[in-house]
Amino acid sequence: MREILEKLYLKNSLTREELLYLLGNLMENDRDKLYRLAYNTTLRTYGNRIFVRGLLEFTNYCKNNCNYCGLRRDNKKVERYRLSKEEILVSLEEGNKLGYKTFVLQGGEDPYYTDEILVDIIKSIKNRYKDVAVTLSIGERSRESYEKLYNAGADRFLLRHETATKKLYDSLHEGMSFEHRIKCLINLKEIGYQVGAGFIVGLPGETNETLADNLLFLKRLEPAMVGIGPLISHPDTPLRGFENGSIETTLTMISLTRLLLPNALIPATTALNTLSSEGLEKGILAGANVVMLNLSPIEARKKYEIYKGKEITDIHQLKKIEERVKKVSFKVDMGRGDHINYNGRIKDV
Ligand code: 5AD
Ligand code: SF4
Repeated sequence: MREILEKLYLKNSLTREELLYLLGNLMENDRDKLYRLAYNTTLRTYGNRIFVRGLLEFTNYCKNNCNYCGLRRDNKKVERYRLSKEEILVSLEEGNKLGYKTFVLQGGEDPYYTDEILVDIIKSIKNRYKDVAVTLSIGERSRESYEKLYNAGADRFLLRHETATKKLYDSLHEGMSFEHRIKCLINLKEIGYQVGAGFIVGLPGETNETLADNLLFLKRLEPAMVGIGPLISHPDTPLRGFENGSIETTLTMISLTRLLLPNALIPATTALNTLSSEGLEKGILAGANVVMLNLSPIEARKKYEIYKGKEITDIHQLKKIEERVKKVSFKVDMGRGDHINYNGRIKDV
């Protein structure tokens, strides 16, 4: 175990066999050591800074039916909403006033937002705020569509791969395809976006092999950002009553990702914060260095219920975030927080 951790820290790479050995034999003291190595790695790459993002959930319509998600199309209990361009701009102005330099526009896969509508929204934002980064998180689209949005000024794109085990992926995503999802990630990277991938911890049937698949996939894809969060079972989905993902496993995955991809931007996710009262602090101690704060209109927030009990920290609560991260010797950085040394190269994923 000692040798594997040492190799991971110094070489930032492990074979599948080593990863599986590590996952199968991690004792409590090894885990603490892993967290420490990951935290030190963050200090080495980005320093003790946590980057903040303003997250705007602009539509909760979704044409997909992911088995874990409260916004899936078959959930008729959701009151659906869409924000207009004007409403979006009003919300972002609040974030701008507070000094936010990254806005994440997130939504379900909602065909209402055509390329034309989105191009107009992105151009308006980039025109108004010259020095902000715009991140899209709007699911799978054609390569042409991704190109248009990039040319309109979008800088980054979040599209979690959800799980890199094809069989598991297919069992949870009726009507979708694993191959297409991966193709989308490659397209986004080739176009020039800073790409965010990531996965859910604790999906039904998850094994150490699944976790290793995820980590090895990330190592090959080399995304700029990686979002990892525990499953939180939603009562109005096929995964109702299913056990939530483990906090410990989530933190272990954050650490391993930090060590495999030292330059990645890794959020302490909302899901982690929802399941754990000190999710942000624990996330940072395990290698995270980003936090996404909510800037959606109040009426929208309740309706954007991916899972129950979502712990929302909003953009006005920066002070609280500052105090919390201070406990783990970090400070809030209000800059754009771009990836350092981003490698747009595509390997064989
Ligand atoms: N629990 C945890 N994460 C979820 N997501 C969707 N539903 C759930 C859930 N019930 C995650 C997916 C998606 C991201 C926006 O939220 O990974 O990509
Ligand atoms: Fe739609 Fe995303 Fe939820 Fe899947 S995870 S149902 S694509 S909002």
